[in-house]
Amino acid sequence: MLNNNKNTGIKITGTGRYLPDKILSNLDLEAMVDTTDEWIRTRTGIEQRHIATDDQPTSFLGAGAAMQALEAAKLNPAEIELIIVATISPDKIFPNTACFVQKKIGAKNAVCFSVEAACSGFVYIMAIGSAMIESGLFKNAILIGAEKLSSIINWNDRSTCVLFGDGAGAVVLERTLSTEENMHIYSKLGSDGNHSDILHVPGGGSCQPFSQTVLDKKLHFLAMSGQEVFKLAVTTMAAAAKETLEKSGISIDDIKWLIPHQANTRIITAVAKRLNIDEKKVYVNLANYGNTSGATIPIALDELVRGGLINKGDYLLFVAFGGGLTWGANLIRW
Ligand code: ACO
Repeated sequence: MLNNNKNTGIKITGTGRYLPDKILSNLDLEAMVDTTDEWIRTRTGIEQRHIATDDQPTSFLGAGAAMQALEAAKLNPAEIELIIVATISPDKIFPNTACFVQKKIGAKNAVCFSVEAACSGFVYIMAIGSAMIESGLFKNAILIGAEKLSSIINWNDRSTCVLFGDGAGAVVLERTLSTEENMHIYSKLGSDGNHSDILHVPGGGSCQPFSQTVLDKKLHFLAMSGQEVFKLAVTTMAAAAKETLEKSGISIDDIKWLIPHQANTRIITAVAKRLNIDEKKVYVNLANYGNTSGATIPIALDELVRGGLINKGDYLLFVAFGGGLTWGANLIRW
């Protein structure tokens, strides 16, 4: 998607993140399931993850990240016109989690909705939010990736419980009328519902409403065919990144930071190799957080921004894949 409305664009004017205090290390997991720190590190790159407490739902994490982003943007919550939350661990089936964030931060004038595109969620809402501002419909927005994945994980299943964590990241977007200031260069999104059952929560929805059977068979927890997801992740992320670069006429050498979805260091390395990008330009932080799904990219972006590692004019490439399947990329000029 290119911005065809040449008169408007978007600027990212603030970023933020919120990670709950409680940390679960690989050693802690060794005491819970039949796994080892060594297996988790070598197969995934993860060393620890943050876990929210019972009184910290997804909207609590999202609100924490949103408040930081608002402060950085020097905006009051009441000035915000749109809140979009990317999540697959909503506070409730409905109402949407963005409404809970709205209430928590006091953004009383915002339109709120959530997007369910799993680990591609932030890349999706970056494209959607940018388009809604570029079209002139809204003049600003908070985009939030927020997950309490610990609430949909089977803590007795070693093949999944070691991979995920909780957390949130946020950006404030504002409309700009200056083409020089416009940060959104191009977005590519893709989906393939034929693979919907390789990464999903099988029960608890309208297909198989919550029941004693769902509970007994543990169908309300995330289920995944790890190796199939692995292969598709590498091919879809590399293809989305390549198409984004080609369509926008930007070379991989021009990219300052590739910010990939943080699921597994081996996936990230394989994608970087296909793109032929210097590994020093690939931002990886999953050792500290595990896979926080839609939150990984905005958390990483906030770390880079607050670390002073991005300068005006730098090109950033976000790329992600997730359940659905869904995938996508955004090219940003800071
Ligand atoms: N500790 C120790 N052993 C384990 C563990 C564990 N935590 N988990 C699995 N094993 C064992 C398996 O039982 C298997 O044993 P076996 O050979 O005796 O049968 C062995 O390790 C190898 O298992 P594989 O599944 O083949 O391991 P693989 O190298 O594929 O790594 C992994 C598994 C890490 C899950 C990998 O496939 C992967 O990262 N896949 C992608 C997952 C992903 O990125 N998901 C993100 C999307 S999430 C979203 O969209 C919400």
